This record gives sequence, structure tokens and C-alpha cells, in this order.
Amino acid sequence: MATATATAYLQGRGLSKSFGHVRALQDVDIDVFEGEVLAIVGDNGAGKSTLTKILSGVYQPDKGEIRVEGRPVRIPNPREAREFGIATVFQNLALVDCRDVATNLFLGREPTRWGIFVDRRKMLADARRVIADLRVNVPSLTVEAGQLSGGQRQSVAIGRATSQQARIIIMDEPTAALGVRESRKVLDLILRLKAAGIGVVVISHNMRHVFSIFDRVMVLRHGRLVGVRRKGETTPDEIVRLIVGADTL
Ligand SMILES: Nc1ncnc2c1ncn2[C@@H]1O[C@H](COP(=O)(O)OP(=O)(O)OP(=O)(O)O)[C@@H](O)[C@H]1O
Ligand SMILES: [Mg+2]
Repeated sequence: MATATATAYLQGRGLSKSFGHVRALQDVDIDVFEGEVLAIVGDNGAGKSTLTKILSGVYQPDKGEIRVEGRPVRIPNPREAREFGIATVFQNLALVDCRDVATNLFLGREPTRWGIFVDRRKMLADARRVIADLRVNVPSLTVEAGQLSGGQRQSVAIGRATSQQARIIIMDEPTAALGVRESRKVLDLILRLKAAGIGVVVISHNMRHVFSIFDRVMVLRHGRLVGVRRKGETTPDEIVRLIVGADTL
């Protein structure tokens, strides 16, 4: 569990990013500890996805610094982010519908024989282990991703992240497209990842989902960090006020 003195595994300091005239992110600090759930909330366009894309190597910040285990690093792309132990489940899940579950789990890093042929047997064995570890229900490892439900797709995408030995997993709105029961499964999965010592960063617009899993929550408004709160020290009302700007209420 995070303590006040421990150094966060992943840190961002003074992160800023503009797209043309849009200042998507301005001078934002973030700490992500292992074994905690950090929620990021904010209105549409507040900069949440931009922040997570900077941490996962999709965007380079215009200003600011990223540190991993206290060391300043540059994260040029998502592959390098994974080398640093940072895996991301993006807002629009990148599953390939016409490929099966096992292939989607290991897309781009399929186990091979002699570095040439995909080792299908090993891939299925590895996939079976990943799916069993997550305790998720998929009809089979060989069913095409296009035939899965939203929750099952989300689980496969999360499985892909967990199978990369990630220390930090970032999820951009993992429950947005899901029904009540499927959301519950994904939230349970997040809590299990946390229990396994992984730091989970979750973006969500759903205050009940946030409050059922978070240890700390950070609120972005118009690209700026307007507050960080710990569980037990805040209420959904306060968070909503921070999101919309208390002055406008
Ligand atoms: N690739 C891009 N090109 C131009 N503008 C962008 C780009 N990505 C984000 N923006 C702009 O930056 C701002 C922040 O966007 P971002 O996607 O980070 O918001 P968000 O908090 O994730 O919103 P949502 O909750 O709707 O997903 C928005 O004004 C958006 O239009
Ligand atoms: Mg977003």
C-alpha cells in the first residue's frame, strides 16, 4: 500500500500537451503507486486520455518529466512503455475482430518456433493460463473476438495487459460500454490486479464505479489538475463539484 514517504513507481511532473490551440493538458503532476487503484475523472475533453497516452508513450509531452522508479525516462512508444512495466487498455479497445481470443491476447508478440512460425500450441497454453488467472468467462480461446460480448472483449484486452508482466496497468473507461453485471466483473478484476500488487489507473465517468474501487482519485478540469483525494476523505458530491467547477454550481 502506498505511503506518504514511498516513491511512486510512475511519476509525471509538470506534464503539458497542446494540440494546435487546444491546451489539452497543463502542468499536471501524477503519481501511480503499485498496489493501488488511482482513478482519473473529469468532464469530456478534460485531458484524461491525453494524460494516459503520454504515460503510455502514444504522445510526447510538450513539457514535463516522466519518472519510472524515480529515474527520468523518455517513453517514445507503447512498446517501450511496456518495457517500463506500463501497459494500457485504450479507450477504443484494439482487438482484431476476425482473429481468435488467443491471437488477440498475444497480438504482435506471439510465441514463435525458430523465430518464424507462430507456436500455436504454446500460444494456446499461455492464453489458457492468462484467462484462468483472470477468472473470466470466454466461450473458448479459438472463438473470434468479433463474437464476444463487450465485457468479454474488455477482459481479453485487460488479459493482454496483464500477460505482459505489467507493474502499472492503465485503463481508459473500461466499463463505459458495459452492462451492470459485466461492469461488476471488470471492477472485480481491477481489485484483483490491485491485490496482486499492480498499480491500476482507471478513467471513468461513472461515480459509483469509481467509488467502488478507488484508493485515490485525481480530478482534471480543462486540462488542469484541480484536486487529488483519498478514499474516505471525499464524497461523490465533492468530486462532482470539482469536475464541473464549484463556482459554476
Ligand atoms: N489527437 C488530437 N488532436 C487534436 N486535439 C486533440 C487530440 N486529442 C485530444 N485532443 C483535444 O484535447 C482535449 C482533451 O482531450 P482528451 O481526449 O484528453 O479528453 P478526455 O478527458 O479523455 O475526454 P473524454 O472523457 O471525452 O474521453 C480535447 O479538447 C480534445 O479535443
Ligand atoms: Mg478520453
